[in-house]
Amino acid sequence: MKGIILAGGSGTRLSPSTDSINKHLLPVFDKPMIYYPLSVLMLGGIKEIMIISTPEDTIRFEKLLGDGTDLGITLTYREQAEPKGIPEALTISEDFIGEAKVALILADNIFYGQGFTTILRNAIKNHRHATIFGYRVKDPRRFGVVEFDHHQKAISLEEKPEEPKSDFAVTGLYMYDQRAVQIAKKLKPSARGELEITDLNKEYLKWNQLDVELLGRGFAWMDAGTQESLFEAAEFVKTTQQRQGFKIACLEEIAYYLGYITKESLYKKGKSMEKNDYGQYLMDIADRKHTQQYWDSIDHHPMLGLVNHE
Ligand code: G1P
Repeated sequence: MKGIILAGGSGTRLSPSTDSINKHLLPVFDKPMIYYPLSVLMLGGIKEIMIISTPEDTIRFEKLLGDGTDLGITLTYREQAEPKGIPEALTISEDFIGEAKVALILADNIFYGQGFTTILRNAIKNHRHATIFGYRVKDPRRFGVVEFDHHQKAISLEEKPEEPKSDFAVTGLYMYDQRAVQIAKKLKPSARGELEITDLNKEYLKWNQLDVELLGRGFAWMDAGTQESLFEAAEFVKTTQQRQGFKIACLEEIAYYLGYITKESLYKKGKSMEKNDYGQYLMDIADRKHTQQYWDSIDHHPMLGLVNHE
């Protein structure tokens, strides 16, 4: 499976903070927002990833993350000329996707919870046609909403409904087969003038090809798209990290545990930022003596191994 991160948009809801910088480069506590969705794709074992952003900002993402070599993955970049909606990410990257399956993630989505790596890997392993991830929220009207029957089978999907039929939001992580590109090409803009990912998912639902994975109550999902939610996300990351001493979405740490980079390169990267906490953290991991014990205590256990799900 290949991966796409959509980091476009005009960021108007975060203006003036986003007047001169892309929203997804803003920090969520101690690292840029885009680290969080990138960590999700990496934990899923996806190594070929395309980042899509605005013509002005693509270069900044490239400056931040390079070609992915430092993380043992491949990163490529592409521009979205105007924010025309999420499904456009699929048509823009048609040649990149080729015959592969694809995981598309929105760059302002933050996922965190015990067992997430396993959920992701299982979703990739069992993937049929389209998979979405549902999460119970207090105000579903802000999101795409999925309704279920008693067997947890999706029966309806609506984008930002006035009267939601359930409390389950559709998160910004989607997995598709190759057909998604063709479906995306046929979509028409909605009343807000954008192509809607919910319309694309509805096509799969119509053909009984939409699988829904639920993320349970012990799980945290946030989209950092407004001042309020960005602040809440940063607070969550800070509190969780400081309590446990683990960093959330530390890309170099993940790359190290997945066996993509060596202990030496992890240390070197840490050393290059040794004056800050992030750098110290990388150096600490590289120095850690009881590595096995440490690995056992975290979710992304290297013994899970990586399966190459093309
Ligand atoms: C988009 C999708 C919506 C989804 C949400 C998740 O909303 O349209 O279905 O629930 O992302 O973050 P937007 O961010 O465009 O308002």
